[in-house]
Amino acid sequence: MEHEEREKWLLAGRIGKEVREYGIKLARPGESLLSIAKELEKKTKELGGIPAFPPNLSVNSVAAHYTPKVSDETVLKEGDVLKIDVGACVDGFLSDTASTLIVGKNDDRLVRSSKEALEKAINSIKPGGYTDETSNVIEETIRSYGFSPVVNLGGHGLGRYDLHSGFISNVSIGGSKRFPEEGVIAIEPFSTNGGGYVIESSDVQIMMLKAKKAVRSRLGRELMDFVSKEYATLPFAKRWIIERFGQIADMELRSLSSAGCLHEFAVLKEKDGGLVSQAEHTILIDNGEVIVTTI
Ligand code: CO
Repeated sequence: MEHEEREKWLLAGRIGKEVREYGIKLARPGESLLSIAKELEKKTKELGGIPAFPPNLSVNSVAAHYTPKVSDETVLKEGDVLKIDVGACVDGFLSDTASTLIVGKNDDRLVRSSKEALEKAINSIKPGGYTDETSNVIEETIRSYGFSPVVNLGGHGLGRYDLHSGFISNVSIGGSKRFPEEGVIAIEPFSTNGGGYVIESSDVQIMMLKAKKAVRSRLGRELMDFVSKEYATLPFAKRWIIERFGQIADMELRSLSSAGCLHEFAVLKEKDGGLVSQAEHTILIDNGEVIVTTI
């Protein structure tokens, strides 16, 4: 990999790590999700990046894809299982990293299970090696705690301005898929005391440009131009758009998604209402080395 490119992946990783750690510090009982999200976005920019996606602050049985709404009133309570999933973008080079904490308390077994699964998974990665070996390590570790891995969430490849390519399962599914000899991936075990399957809720707070199409509405065209210029192909928060264009943009975003211009990331919940914990790092594979960029 070119030196300059490698440095940008590493910088995006360092920023992601700092922002994740800052999130852990901010997450106290009585703190609002909205103020934490805004602080994390500000921090990302102060450190020289932009958010690779809106900070995901998912609580208890919400597994992923929740970012606060414009006037979100959710306040953290002691004992909440909070997943902080953040990432930075530096000139299109990305990081994606997550930690779980129990608000106001020490880590419990659920948190430890996903954390240990991630550590062991990282140690199992070999450049060009089989991904299923890593999937198996994740599954075994989480099951050894008596919990279930979430089977329909998993790791993924990262590319320039491309947050999700491919799927690295959190359970062994066999197959001969291999890690790249050179490239960037994210590993993200999810552990739950439910059955281990997430379903989409009707709530959507995160979207992404899918296809720029001709639409009749003037605001629709304006929103599409803005989104493509500001976020390119990276996910963005509905909140960011409504803060800029006003509440009227909410309906317009919905029509743009019905028209096939935007992709919606629905909030994902564990189907049995189980508590969910997650741990995630970004990993650079280059020149025979496996480097965790977000540690
Ligand atoms: Co990820």
